[in-house]
Amino acid sequence: MAQQTWDAERYASTADFVARLGAPLLALLAPRRGERILDLGCGIGEHAQTLLARGCRVVAVDSAQSFVDAAQRRGVDARLMDARALRFEREFDAVFSNAALHWMRDADAVLSGVQRALRPGGRFVAEFGGQGNVASVVNALHAELARENIDAGPLNPWYFPSPDAYRARLQAQGFEVQALALIPRPTRLPGTLSDWLETFAQSFTLALPPAKRAPFLHRVEQRLAPRLRDRRGQWELDYVRLRFAATLPLLRS
Ligand code: BEZ
Repeated sequence: MAQQTWDAERYASTADFVARLGAPLLALLAPRRGERILDLGCGIGEHAQTLLARGCRVVAVDSAQSFVDAAQRRGVDARLMDARALRFEREFDAVFSNAALHWMRDADAVLSGVQRALRPGGRFVAEFGGQGNVASVVNALHAELARENIDAGPLNPWYFPSPDAYRARLQAQGFEVQALALIPRPTRLPGTLSDWLETFAQSFTLALPPAKRAPFLHRVEQRLAPRLRDRRGQWELDYVRLRFAATLPLLRS
């Protein structure tokens, strides 16, 4: 079973690039003053805070208490909620989500809740890991766990769909898709690959007994360094984003 816990302070120091690189998504959302916007999987609340500053009325949800607390400290109306069971009915002008949907493997349950949360004509604008995202890291994690006779398949917490597969899911929920594209975005890490793995890939490492975890991370790094680390020690991961904008029709049954 996949396991992942979040620590807001650790996230702020090892993953500050996540919100910074989400700026084009805010442009695609084109938020207007007074709009009521749901930030789905808000993390530590940077984007929700930006939307507030632009005069939007924002509700933010996350399934990690540490993130909800951090977002509340920024003045955001952040609530603890499971994205598969959103409790909103036709009340938002837009739902926004950055770098969160790939943690939600039950995509149809999430989309159904988003669809219910939006007013007729409401829009859903999001970006997350798409097909091929961090593929070299995924392959290395699988290969190194296989050496320990562990099948990484059931441990993999990530959902990185193809454009066609995700478009079909959006349409099945009644969305009209205005834009949807896979965007390769090689991403420099602020620290080492081990730092990144300790923040984002816990479900793989926790499958090992504690004494084997550090050597495991080291072997994953060694396997990937020739491709993903330059001579100065800078790591760059093969991120691929799936970015889309979709709307509900004005007339809904
Ligand atoms: C991503 O933002 O694409 C991502 C982050 C952590 C783990 C996997 C993917």
